[in-house]
Amino acid sequence: MSEAPRIAVDDLWVGRDGRDGPIDVLAGMSLVVEPGEIVAMVGPSGCGKSTLLGVLAGLEAPSAGVVRLDGVDRPDRLGGLALMPQRDALLPWRTALDNVACSVGWSSARSGDDESRAMDALARVGLDGFEDHYPHALSGGMRQRVALARTLASGARAWLLDEPFGALDALTRAALHRELERAWRSVGSSVLLVTHDLDEAIVLADRVYVSSLRPGRIVAEVAVALGRPRAAADTTRPEFVRLKEELLGVLASTEAVA
Ligand SMILES: Nc1ncnc2c1ncn2[C@@H]1O[C@H](COP(=O)(O)OP(=O)(O)OP(=O)(O)O)[C@@H](O)[C@H]1O
Ligand SMILES: [Mg+2]
Repeated sequence: MSEAPRIAVDDLWVGRDGRDGPIDVLAGMSLVVEPGEIVAMVGPSGCGKSTLLGVLAGLEAPSAGVVRLDGVDRPDRLGGLALMPQRDALLPWRTALDNVACSVGWSSARSGDDESRAMDALARVGLDGFEDHYPHALSGGMRQRVALARTLASGARAWLLDEPFGALDALTRAALHRELERAWRSVGSSVLLVTHDLDEAIVLADRVYVSSLRPGRIVAEVAVALGRPRAAADTTRPEFVRLKEELLGVLASTEAVA
């Protein structure tokens, strides 16, 4: 994928076997990430956000609906979009550096250049000096940062990030927001970011989608027309507070409907 793609999700349905029979997890989910956009998605726990990212990444087939990349239905997209899963999927038998480098360049054959990109990505998430550590010797937040570095350095121009900053303290999280934005600018990628943190959504996204309780579908879309870069300090600005109140209002009405 040479350019940041337009990602379009059209009327997606996903079912699962629930305790009392089949359930719909996604029911008519439709959304768009324009080329080079950062789009956030918020919604109640269990509404199908991770399921959506799994379908987008090509890990799971929907029961109905279509995912288009640049207008083309691409059932063969597995590997083309870089997914950072909610639970880090690091390979326990590989060092931090090897975990990052194995995604660089789409290939297991690695050049010195790939390795320096991986080193650079680790440094950018604050992990220089930890290249040779194995995942078991890293904290949850450090593992999360290795997984983020792997995504940013993957070479893919579409990133699917599932609560990538959940395990981090406030300062590290703010630093990584800046790094994500920097990497996004320099690579030029289309990003779908799932988060529970409304401040994070407003700091990072061009638009925010709100999903309903399960079965998930989009119930609101809020544009974030604030200049970049936006710092954590911006959260007290009146425009920021107004956007947050709007999102909170939609989320509250979503829960009330259930
Ligand atoms: N492997 C599975 N088998 C059966 N049901 C599942 C499976 N994985 C998820 N589910 C169900 O699908 C629904 C959506 O799960 P999903 O993980 O996509 O939600 P989510 O929006 O990402 O939640 P959270 O915000 O807590 O991460 C949930 O009701 C969950 O119980
Ligand atoms: Mg999830």
